[in-house]
Amino acid sequence: MPRIVHQLYAIGLVVIVLFVLIAWVVTAFSVSAKTIVQLPDHQPPAAPEACVRCHRTNAQAPSMPHIELPTCGYCHR
Ligand code: HEC
Ligand code: HEC
Repeated sequence: MPRIVHQLYAIGLVVIVLFVLIAWVVTAFSVSAKTIVQLPDHQPPAAPEACVRCHRTNAQAPSMPHIELPTCGYCHR
C-alpha cells in the first residue's frame, strides 16, 4: 500500500472519531435541558424571540445560562 493511502486512512479515522465525539457532546447537552410543558406560562410554547424577550425582561423568569440560540423547543420540550 502506498504511503499516501496509509496517511489518508489515518486522517479519515481521526475525522470520524472527532465527529462522533462532537455529536455525543451536543446530544448530551440537548437532552439535559429542562422540560417546559408543565409550566403554566409556556402553554402553548412561544416563538424563540418571545421566549428570549420574556426571559430577559421578566424578573420572575430565570435568565438563560447559555447564548441566544435560534431554537428553544429542540432542547426544552
Ligand atoms: C411570559 C413570559 C415567559 C415566556 C414567553 C417564556 N417563559 Fe420560560 N419562564 C417564565 C417564568 C416566569 C419562569 C419561572 C417558572 C414558572 O413559570 O413558574 C420560566 C421558567 C422557564 C424555564 C425553567 C424551568 C424549570 O423547570 O425551572 C425554562 C427552561 C424556560 N422557562 C424556557 C422557556 C422557553 C424555551 C420559552 C419559549 C418556548 C419560554 N420559556 C417562554 C416566563 C416565560
Ligand atoms: C442545544 C440545547 C438548548 C437549546 C436550543 C436551548 N437551551 Fe436553554 N438550556 C439548555 C441546557 C442544557 C440548560 C441547562 C439545564 C437547565 O437548566 O435546563 C438550559 C437552561 C435554560 C434556562 C435556565 C433554566 C433554569 O431553571 O435556570 C433557560 C431560561 C433557558 N435555557 C431558556 C432557553 C431559551 C429561551 C431558548 C431559546 C432561545 C433555549 N433555552 C434554547 C439547552 C438548550
